[in-house]
Amino acid sequence: MKDGLRFHNGKRVFSRGEVAKHNRVTDGWIIIDDKVYNVTTWIPYHPGGEKVLQMVLGKDATFDFRSVQHSFQAREKLQTLWIGYILEKKRFTANEPLDWPIDFGEEGGFH
Ligand code: HEM
Repeated sequence: MKDGLRFHNGKRVFSRGEVAKHNRVTDGWIIIDDKVYNVTTWIPYHPGGEKVLQMVLGKDATFDFRSVQHSFQAREKLQTLWIGYILEKKRFTANEPLDWPIDFGEEGGFH
């Protein structure tokens, strides 16, 4: 699959390297669960503060987002910021905690 490819639902595919470039408050993306979110407009409104979001711009924030146990409303907000999928799915390692329901996605399984 090619970086930048656009799906019929308007979402695009990005490499982790591409996401890493968007690490500024004026242009900030984050990765959660192999999906890419443009959080630029949300940073000033985040109830948990701007700082925590700034710290994860351009990075994978899956663990940070989950560790706070965000509400359903927070997930709904997240959904509105969704811009694409990640090219290389995350590789889980043996010592990583897996104490949450796993979303196997469309491809059904780990890579
Ligand atoms: C775009 C991604 C995010 C969205 C849409 C979001 C949304 C929210 C919302 C709506 C709340 C209010 C409480 C709730 O409804 O759960 C909240 C609180 C909070 N969030 Fe986020 N959040 C995001 C990312 C993050 C990240 C990456 C962190 C990093 C640790 C974080 C840390 C916090 C903290 C510490 C609180 C405060 C909890 C409290 O005061 O009880 N959030 N967030």
